[in-house]
Amino acid sequence: MKKFFPVYVRLPLIFALVFMALEFFIDSGDRPAFLKYPEVSIFLATFLFFQITLEIVYAAFERLNYNLLTEEEKAKKAQEEAIAFTDTALYKKIKGWFVKSKPIEEESSILLHHDYDGIQELDNVLPPWWVNLFYVTIFFGVVYLVRYHIFDGEDQAAEFKTEMAEAKLAVEEYKKTAKDLIDANSVTLLTDAGDIATGKKIFETNCVACHRPDAGGAIGPNLTDKYWILGGGIKNVFHTITEGGRDGKGMVAWKGTLKPSEIQLVASYVLSLQGSNPKDPKAPDGDLWEEKAETPAK
Ligand code: HEC
Repeated sequence: MKKFFPVYVRLPLIFALVFMALEFFIDSGDRPAFLKYPEVSIFLATFLFFQITLEIVYAAFERLNYNLLTEEEKAKKAQEEAIAFTDTALYKKIKGWFVKSKPIEEESSILLHHDYDGIQELDNVLPPWWVNLFYVTIFFGVVYLVRYHIFDGEDQAAEFKTEMAEAKLAVEEYKKTAKDLIDANSVTLLTDAGDIATGKKIFETNCVACHRPDAGGAIGPNLTDKYWILGGGIKNVFHTITEGGRDGKGMVAWKGTLKPSEIQLVASYVLSLQGSNPKDPKAPDGDLWEEKAETPAK
């Protein structure tokens, strides 16, 4: 066999296979792995070195072995190596899958007994690969028939529906864990005492300088009354804190500093202060806000 895979075929072939396997399995973006990761290049170089070393050692052993053979064995070996590839058992086996026709000398035995103006027909065996494929399709057909027409298996439409339903659940699940996906339209008012306490902390760190610790208002407006410049309700308040107030008024956009989940917390805290009547509040600014008149965020 070795004669059909001489060293100049074997060596580059194995090297190429290893190289391709590495490129296939190592995720290196749009650059080849051996350029992106120097260790890959080093590995390949080492591998090639070992390959060459092995080949040299192997060739030396072969030569040594050959010299130890008796004349008789040498002759036998030479004979074995003289076999043409088309005469090997492997070749014959592979060929058998593709053609099984009779040799020309024996054709008379499979000649059919009709003759159309000299045109005759041979009854050759069909190519085995083709016949076997045909059996496979019959088997497939039976399984298909039983599964889909007798036992009413799921068809594509039903499969699509189940997968879409699963995906929907997965998205919902994801949204639950990804708190920061909320925006002014999906935000909800938090009322949990723990959440309000966390919101209070955020307020004390970032907002008291302008709104006063009791939110009664200083540079910024009173946040405890029912009057809002930029609209009340969780959606508008969330929007104001995220995007900031009117230009030049001093209320910056907090989306660069606070995460959406934190804005939700602090907005909920601010709204929990409604009607808390702090001392010396700043005079109301803006319009009276009726909760039921809540409009979608601007
Ligand atoms: C630098 C001062 C300053 C800081 C700090 C500040 N604000 Fe303001 N805030 C203002 C001003 C000024 C306004 C009025 C904006 C306008 O008139 O457009 C305002 C408006 C608001 C409004 C809208 C009030 C209304 O009547 O519509 C809310 C809600 C608010 N701030 C919450 C916060 C929160 C929460 C924080 C902390 C994360 C914060 N602010 C930090 C100055 C500030």
